[in-house]
Amino acid sequence: MLILGIETSCDDTAAGVVEDGALVRSSVVLSQDGIHSKYGGIVPELASRQHIEAIAPVVEEALAKASVTLDCVDGISVTEGPGLVGSLLVGMSFAKAISFAKGIPLTAVNHIEAHSVAAFLTEPGLAVKPPKFPFVSLVVSGGHTTLFLVNDYTAHEVIGETLDDAAGEAFDKAAKLLGLGYPGGAMIDALAKNGNPAYVEFTRPYLAKDSLDFSFSGIKTAVLNRVRGFNGAISDDVLKDLSASFQEAIVDVLVTKAMRAVKKTGVSHLVAAGGVACNSRLRRKLTEEASAYGVSLCIPPPRFCSDNAAMVAGMGFYKMQKGVFAGLDLNANPNMPR
Ligand code: KG4
Ligand code: ZN
Repeated sequence: MLILGIETSCDDTAAGVVEDGALVRSSVVLSQDGIHSKYGGIVPELASRQHIEAIAPVVEEALAKASVTLDCVDGISVTEGPGLVGSLLVGMSFAKAISFAKGIPLTAVNHIEAHSVAAFLTEPGLAVKPPKFPFVSLVVSGGHTTLFLVNDYTAHEVIGETLDDAAGEAFDKAAKLLGLGYPGGAMIDALAKNGNPAYVEFTRPYLAKDSLDFSFSGIKTAVLNRVRGFNGAISDDVLKDLSASFQEAIVDVLVTKAMRAVKKTGVSHLVAAGGVACNSRLRRKLTEEASAYGVSLCIPPPRFCSDNAAMVAGMGFYKMQKGVFAGLDLNANPNMPR
């Protein structure tokens, strides 16, 4: 069964074709970073306008790369939320139009849940050890930081989430304070590789609490105070050390809480996904901790961690298998829980 996935929830226009929920035949992502970077964050109106321009060529490219036409597609899966309303509406309207014109069944998926189902995606030459149900999934992105207990592809139970900023948002805000560009997560990751993580012992936010929730808003004030102390003259070495120290604090909290969730639920499989799961330190530390506790860990390759439509197609397949379809009255759900 071939599903065409369409993803426009934030600032990436993405389309992909996936076979039977797992085999990625194509995954095309058009980033808008170049448009938003000069504003230091996403400008929603610019994002939706760019989606309007990009959606048709991106879908055409995804079909061409998969060597199929719409006549071969068995289903269309689109992100219905959460996200920016104008952005969501572009993908959703496009998906509904094709569904109506070609008579192709439609389904709608939750973006955050789709991130964890990316753990099942595979490609020729990509060795994947997919998780077994039930598993814990840590979804860390620019907009969300959530721990799920996943009992089935379509049964995600929230067991912890951020009370304020998302982990990716913390990375982006810290990067801005350090005078790096937007989005800053990957830049902090790169600088931290040559920095001293013990340069500043940032307080590990919300770690002492026994809960599985997160709080990342306070740490940016700690970074701001450090930056102010340098009066605008931060050397390259200090920049690397501050990046490494900040990253270590965030990663420490994410890894500790993910492992705490595994122990509390008694599962033996763990997934990490979402854009922040591209972070090299997070990937390494999770791998070490999971192996120390005998937990089977699955972190998709970076291209399936950050926003993409293959994960949306994958999730759509499992929803359709369960008989969950959407009608043409489907509406965007920007504040969809999670
Ligand atoms: O999942 P995603 O592509 O989009 C959302 O759904 O938000 O995640 C984007 C976030 C951004 O905040 C970006 O800075 C962060 O993921 N990110 C990283 C890295 N690569 C992307 N954060 C830390 N280290 C990275 N290597
Ligand atoms: Zn995302």
